[in-house]
Amino acid sequence: MKVKINAERCQGHGRCYDLAPGLFGDDEEGYGQVLGDGVVPPGEEQTARLILANCPERAIEIL
Ligand code: F3S
Repeated sequence: MKVKINAERCQGHGRCYDLAPGLFGDDEEGYGQVLGDGVVPPGEEQTARLILANCPERAIEIL
């Protein structure tokens, strides 16, 4: 499982990096960024799905 942020949709709501700081960070303008290569570590799959549902812009994608 891998997560990705669609940069065209992200408006910087910050729920991704607030709720899952192990998977997401933010850039200097507060837009979400996937940490590393976006591969979800074992045991974090549920968190990844939670974030998918919590982004108001539907900017998170799970591959
Ligand atoms: Fe952006 Fe959604 Fe995160 S709008 S900062 S990807 S919660």
